[in-house]
Parts: sequence; structure tokens; C-alpha cells
Amino acid sequence: MATVNRQITLASRPVGFPKVSDFHLVYTPVPSPAAGEVLVRSIYLSLDPYMRGRMSDAESYARPLAIGEVMTGGAVARVVESMDPEFLPGDTVEGILGWQEYAVVPGRTLRKVDPDLAPVSTALGVLGMPGLTAYFGLLDICAPRRGETVVVSGAAGAVGMLVGQIAKIKGCRVVGMAGSDTKITWLLDELGFDAAFNYRTAADSHAKLRELCPAGIDVYFDNVGGVVTDSVIRLINAKARISVCGQISQYNLEKPERGPRWLGQLVVKQAKVQGFLVSAYAGRFPEALEHLARWLTQGKLKYREDIAQGLEAAPQAFIGMLQGANHGKQLVRLAEY
Ligand SMILES: NC(=O)c1ccc[n+]([C@@H]2O[C@H](COP(=O)([O-])OP(=O)(O)OC[C@H]3O[C@@H](n4cnc5c(N)ncnc54)[C@H](OP(=O)(O)O)[C@@H]3O)[C@@H](O)[C@H]2O)c1
Repeated sequence: MATVNRQITLASRPVGFPKVSDFHLVYTPVPSPAAGEVLVRSIYLSLDPYMRGRMSDAESYARPLAIGEVMTGGAVARVVESMDPEFLPGDTVEGILGWQEYAVVPGRTLRKVDPDLAPVSTALGVLGMPGLTAYFGLLDICAPRRGETVVVSGAAGAVGMLVGQIAKIKGCRVVGMAGSDTKITWLLDELGFDAAFNYRTAADSHAKLRELCPAGIDVYFDNVGGVVTDSVIRLINAKARISVCGQISQYNLEKPERGPRWLGQLVVKQAKVQGFLVSAYAGRFPEALEHLARWLTQGKLKYREDIAQGLEAAPQAFIGMLQGANHGKQLVRLAEY
């Protein structure tokens, strides 16, 4: 077994978009597990927008990473050595393991992954945090009804691609917004979205949405915020529900954006806007995973992964994801399964 671990740490706090120089590749000894702990070797690392927030020291609900600390992140891994009777060497697990090849964590923080159910990478996508986010953010907050129009931004990403498909399962009319023509073609031809358009090239996103949503918008699942969301709000119907999942258009701004002030629309439309954190639903994860796994095995949920190769590729892949280079769930392969 290897004795050297490779890790990526936070070298400096980004100003605006992160740069590769904000990360540092370091070599450390592979650690040993104490009682109750497990040594794992990561196979896939998940790259997620929330990591950008952890790199800043701006006030937020989550603790900022310290300079020199290993970047945080979920990963799928194989157990190498276990001091927890619940785990055996060779088991496949998922947990917060960080941007590194080996990790020692308490066994109680790990979730076992069934490799016979689906490819193990799905524990970071459709059968993991993004899937749970799509499930609760859409179904719990918006309660979409058959025939309603659902609009989703960030529609070709890890969460958005699942939101649109779950809305289709519920009998809704689904309209997606994403940032490239290839993504739009995929949403329409492969995922069965009813309509979709490229918000980066549309001359007027509001006019395009008006054309694509002739009956108005009943549900909006917001992954991005900013001008994309501004284009939606004037089109919401009475009693619309808006799930605020993320605001990625704002994460790398050096100065806050000033936008149209549209809260008055909520008054006249008697609409509901609710933000959420998927972690708040932890007690209901088993229920959601059962549904997601069933839809996946029935072929009702399709997914796409964008896989970078090797730990050293993680910083650039992360920066690319923040800029829209990813198509589907952004992962990094750290080892062969
Ligand atoms: N509330 C929660 O608990 C929770 C949990 C997970 C994720 N989230 C949030 O959900 C959102 C999606 O996360 P994800 O993991 O599924 O990421 P993702 O969609 O797979 O990747 C991020 C995507 O954001 C889009 N984007 C980047 N800049 C943008 C801009 N200025 N305007 C519009 N779109 C932009 C890009 O796609 P385009 O090519 O389409 O621009 C990019 O591919 C994020 O805001 C994230 O913070 C929230």
C-alpha cells in the first residue's frame, strides 16, 4: 500500500473567480486509523459550488476553511483498513473525505454504497447530495402538480438535470435554462424537457421565457439567481412556488450586484419563495434515496457525468465547473474502482 498521501489545500482566498494558484498540492504520510476510525482510498471526488463559499472568510453559516487546510469535499472511496466493526476492507463508502487520495474518518460519518445498485459514482450524483437536493427542493418546497409549468435554471448541472426529470415524472411541463447549445440539445433530446434555451446567447431571456411558457410559470427552481432569475419573476402565476436552491451567478462577484427589486411581484401573485439546505432533510434521506434509486433503475432518471482525471486536475475542473464547463455532475477520478 502507498505510504504517501497527496492532498490539495487552500493556498489563498480567491478574489473573484478562483485561480489555480489559490490551491496547493502537498504530500503527507498516509494516516493510520484509531479506534472507531476507518482509512479509505478515494475513487471519485465530487466538485460542488458550495466549496467556493468555504474558500472565503465572508460570514456564512459554514465555517471557512483555514489557509493550508485540505479542501473539503464529498467522495466515494474504498475501505483500506477499519477500526470500526461496521466496515470491512474493500467496502465501498461515501463521506466527506476532502480533496485527497487517502483519508481517516470516524466510521459513523460514512455511508455504505451498494455497488450492485448503480455505478458507484452515482453516490455523489443522482443517488447522493445533488439527487437529494433536487428531490426535496422540488417536491417538498414546490409540491408541483400535474400540468403545471416548472422552470429550472442551471438545468444541465448536477441538481438541475434531476429537477427537470423529477418534474416530468410528476406530469409537469418543464422548461430549462442552461449556458450552451450542446446542453440545450441534450435537455430536449435525451432528458425529455418540453422546452429549453441558452440564456447566454438569448437576446432577451424574459421574452424567450414568455414564448416558452404561454400559461405562465407555476414553479421555479432557482440554481443560479442574478439576471436569469430576474427574467423569470414577472412571469410567475398566482400562488407560484419558488425554491431557492443556489445563487451561483453571485458566488464569484467581487461586489454585490444591484438588480431589479421584484419582491412586489410576490405580493400581487401571493407567491411563496423558500430557500433550503439539503442537510436539513437528513432524517428523510432514506425515503428520497428509495424513490431516486427506483426511478434510476426504471430508466426514468438519466444523468451525465463530467470526469476529470487525477487529483492534480481538481482545481482547474472546479474553476471550470463554476464557469459552466461541466456538462452534468463534475467529478474527479482519483483511482480505478
Ligand atoms: N441548497 C442546497 O442544499 C444545495 C445543495 C447542492 C447544490 N446547491 C446549489 O445548486 C446550484 C447547482 O449546483 P450543482 O452542484 O448542480 O452545480 P452544476 O449546475 O453542476 O454546476 C454549476 C453550473 O452553474 C452554471 N453557472 C455558472 N455561472 C452561472 C451564471 N452566472 N449564471 C447562470 N448559471 C451559471 C453553469 O452552467 P451553465 O452552462 O448553464 O451556465 C455551471 O455548469 C448551485 O447554486 C449550488 O450552490 C444547493
